[in-house]
Amino acid sequence: MIKKAIIPAAGFGTRFLPATKAQPKEMLPIIDTPVIQYVVQEAVDSGIEDILIISGKGKRSIEDHFDRNYELESRILEKEDEALYNQLKHIENMANIHYIRQKELNGLGDAIYHARFHCGNEPFAVLLGDTIINSAIPVTQQMIDAYEQYRQIVIAVETVPHDKVNRYGIVGGKKLSEKLIQITEMVEKPEIDKAPSNYAIAGRYILTPEIFSALEKTPRGKGNEIQLTDALRILLKQQDITATIIEGKRYDIGNKLDFLKTTVEFALKRKEFAAPFAEFLKEIVKGL
Ligand code: UTP
Repeated sequence: MIKKAIIPAAGFGTRFLPATKAQPKEMLPIIDTPVIQYVVQEAVDSGIEDILIISGKGKRSIEDHFDRNYELESRILEKEDEALYNQLKHIENMANIHYIRQKELNGLGDAIYHARFHCGNEPFAVLLGDTIINSAIPVTQQMIDAYEQYRQIVIAVETVPHDKVNRYGIVGGKKLSEKLIQITEMVEKPEIDKAPSNYAIAGRYILTPEIFSALEKTPRGKGNEIQLTDALRILLKQQDITATIIEGKRYDIGNKLDFLKTTVEFALKRKEFAAPFAEFLKEIVKGL
């Protein structure tokens, strides 16, 4: 059983400046809930009990968010707002959360490498801290199910438009079933006419401990960073790797337009906002 997850959350978030100059992009709220809380919730809903967050400079508010705040709790208790009190208790008790700091931002591969002692000899899930996936069955659960079946590394992928493949890590391979692909190649941000498919890596992985020795052998790649995709490509020469075509909708919050779309979609799903917000949007659209 997979009980551990890593959430990389140390990145600069340059695509979301200036908001991310002094606050983590993973703490940007979708309505009233920080992005990383949705991510932790997905992990917990998938049976994960132990989470290591890869933290770094300027990211302390993530730790505070999942910590206990006695003063705030007692203030809420005085106000006798039980629902809000229960929400606060829920956040601090979601999982067993640990932190390690990535001192230099050398890329996602390097961030994962920081988890080597924590994960030891066990397979583990990776959930990018700036990516929310909305789905009926939590995506990490979908991937754990695929891992249980094949006992090999599983990468979440989603179909993206052909003209956007150059923004993503893309996998190519042969279909094992409707939802599973046996990966034969993997390339980070390929040129549009050289991409092996339009299956884009979607910010969720089940990795096995061999990834750490592969990361040790991985030279700096795109952006002069240690890329996880490059390490996976090394492993692909030695072992089979599966991709799961996820059932769900992915939101990359590190991208401003996606952030706006997510806020609107999530607001329309919230009982207390759905009707008045829809009215407001209709008015706006009329004026376009
Ligand atoms: P991104 O690829 O979005 O990189 O990282 P970034 O640096 O945060 O953002 P931009 O491109 O500058 O806007 C995906 C996830 O991996 C983490 C990020 O915090 C994010 O949650 N990450 C990235 C690390 O933990 N360490 C790194 O060195 C890079």
